[in-house]
Amino acid sequence: MNTPIPNRLFVRNRANFAAQLPPKSVAVFTANEPMPRNGDQFFPFRQQSDFFYLTGINEENAFLLIAPDYPIEELREILFIEPYDEVKATWQGEMLDNAHAAELSGVKTVKGSDAFWSVLNDIVFSGYGDTIFLNSYEYPKYECNTETIQQRFVKKTKALYPMHNYGRTAPILNALRMVKSEEEIKIIQQACDITGKAFRRCLETVKPGMNEFEVQAEIEYIFKRNNASGHAFAPIVAGGKNACCLHYSKNQSLLDEGDLILFDIGCELKNYSSDLSRTIPINGKFTQRQADCYNAVRRVMKEIIKLYRPGGTINQINETTYKLMEQEMIKLGLFTAEDVKKQNPDKPLYKKYLMHGISHHIGLDDHDNIDKFKPFAPGMILSCEPGLYIREEGIGIRIEDDLLITYGEPINLFEGLPTEIEEIEAAMKK
Ligand code: GLY
Ligand code: MN
Repeated sequence: MNTPIPNRLFVRNRANFAAQLPPKSVAVFTANEPMPRNGDQFFPFRQQSDFFYLTGINEENAFLLIAPDYPIEELREILFIEPYDEVKATWQGEMLDNAHAAELSGVKTVKGSDAFWSVLNDIVFSGYGDTIFLNSYEYPKYECNTETIQQRFVKKTKALYPMHNYGRTAPILNALRMVKSEEEIKIIQQACDITGKAFRRCLETVKPGMNEFEVQAEIEYIFKRNNASGHAFAPIVAGGKNACCLHYSKNQSLLDEGDLILFDIGCELKNYSSDLSRTIPINGKFTQRQADCYNAVRRVMKEIIKLYRPGGTINQINETTYKLMEQEMIKLGLFTAEDVKKQNPDKPLYKKYLMHGISHHIGLDDHDNIDKFKPFAPGMILSCEPGLYIREEGIGIRIEDDLLITYGEPINLFEGLPTEIEEIEAAMKK
């Protein structure tokens, strides 16, 4: 198990959050629940990221209540955890006790989760909890047909207290989570180091005739061996034309001599993500055409990295990349400058070969919830991931680093990892 994160991070996160609540508010959060798989199985438990951000607690059946104006000081912050259950402890292992929960989270008042609704009742009818802030997952393009425990919790709370005012925690938490603290940067750097190690292992092991899943197994070995909990997202290990499928994750094809292989991988460490993409030749040597395509992407990447500075935006990164890649695509003979002049502006030609966004925030989630209009500021961590996908040639290339915004140049969290063609070929020769 990962060593815990010092609780000062969660203490500070709660204080920053509470400072933004209007007077006489109470904010309530529920932990995630285990997701059913099939038969009598559940998917491995993963805490809801906002709940973790505020508590550091990785348990189900838990609640957090924050009522900054409540007159009784020890009830302004309460963590509720599952009461001890001997049968559960026998089958699933030791349960978290109140003292340990207090130590992990820094919350001084810890109660059993069976007391949550009655405590909330007291607070919302006290005159010091007139506005109830509820947590919801607000990610514009995410579609999910499953009703989450957070959604049920919202419904239940609103049914119990229909006459109260309500607020959303998401805008506050999204803004806070965009800027990483020192502790978070350190963990994400460690996660990137582990992911980088896994990539180095791929450089040593990939060869024609292997299967994508064998390469994935090498990556997972390094992740687990270095105390990461696993993948931060479904890993992409894509040989040849599979790399043109943007979220390919079957990872079950044989690797052909002469093809490229694209990795988009990232371990999760202490619930924090890393996100790396590299593309390498399966036989250790780029063909001229592959090298030309690769260098086109790499040149553009080097240009746009300069834009990861305070005041920059994801929109600016995207638009600049598309413009530069369009020029590179002309040089690669994918279309002509004349074709571009005549193109339908709603369907630009470059979109056939580069159809995704170039950057996202990284933190407790690989794609952290964001305010996409907020300019970059020191402490933000974003991916930089231009790509080029030429399906008809079986060439799919993406190169991705994670960048920490500073007051000056960004810090590359994958600094030193082989990226240039010569570096990749030299590492594969060893
Ligand atoms: N790592 C996958 C993605 O950024 O979409
Ligand atoms: Mn990414």
